[in-house]
Amino acid sequence: MEQATTGHYPIERREGEIERLHIQSTAMAADCDIMLERIGVGGGWACLDLGCGPGGITALLSTRVGAGGRVVGLDADVAFLEHARVNAAPNIKFIAGNAYRTDLVAGNFDLVHMRFIASTAGEPEKLIREAMRLAKPGGILAMQEPDMASLNCYPPNASWDRLKAALQGAFSSAGTDICLARRLYELARLSGLTDVQYRPFLVGVRSQDPWVDYLPSTVESLRGTIVGRALLSEDELNLALAGCRTHLRNPNVVFTSYTVAQVWGRTPLAPRS
Ligand SMILES: C[S@@+](CC[C@H](N)C(=O)[O-])C[C@H]1O[C@@H](n2cnc3c(N)ncnc32)[C@H](O)[C@@H]1O
Repeated sequence: MEQATTGHYPIERREGEIERLHIQSTAMAADCDIMLERIGVGGGWACLDLGCGPGGITALLSTRVGAGGRVVGLDADVAFLEHARVNAAPNIKFIAGNAYRTDLVAGNFDLVHMRFIASTAGEPEKLIREAMRLAKPGGILAMQEPDMASLNCYPPNASWDRLKAALQGAFSSAGTDICLARRLYELARLSGLTDVQYRPFLVGVRSQDPWVDYLPSTVESLRGTIVGRALLSEDELNLALAGCRTHLRNPNVVFTSYTVAQVWGRTPLAPRS
């Protein structure tokens, strides 16, 4: 990954990380589309997905804005962007950059969107300031961030609990807030957005669903931080991963995902004095 000059993103781009992010995006596509519909994203819009990873929501935006619109995906990880460019629709452009300080021209987008970057890389206020700068006056800033409280499996399982605690510990030790959903609405209002909307959702997952490996695969992408910060030893981690995966193979087991808060609002028409 290119060194980002701001943010403390602890997730590693190990083999399997691109697939992990794609499966996550697919699991959330229907809810993301509900948000885009409520915002009214339509033909001809110019949209930016900040921290888009290997695609983020750019394909959903591309379909909505059509040939007369344009979509830009920005990320610090050039390998993610290379992947994203393969088979991308002609109205999408992917660019490398630092989401906290993009060097993009101000006021050029009808919609600026960010998902899971403020919570995983930190400094949400700084990101929001940059996103608001990039939106047109009166344009829309939309954010989607998680709250891990609802990430629970039924029946409960000790290995699941260990992995969940390690995941939360890894983000706290990186100084980031994986439960940012709880503060997102307030942050949006305090940043000066108006007509701020709030739509939380979660996803139910069964053992046969593609997203079933969410918790083990995400913890694997945090292995360096988890072991490096002694949250679990390598052996403890491997044991918990195996135990959790065995549990999730039971066809009677289900889990509820983390809650995602969708928050969006309008940027001021004129700069605040
Ligand atoms: C959890 S991923 C989410 C990706 C995508 N938004 C999605 O929802 O599928 C967070 C993304 O933020 C990117 N990122 C982290 N720090 C960044 C920075 N300072 N500038 C740009 N991108 C950054 C990472 O490379 C990663 O692709």
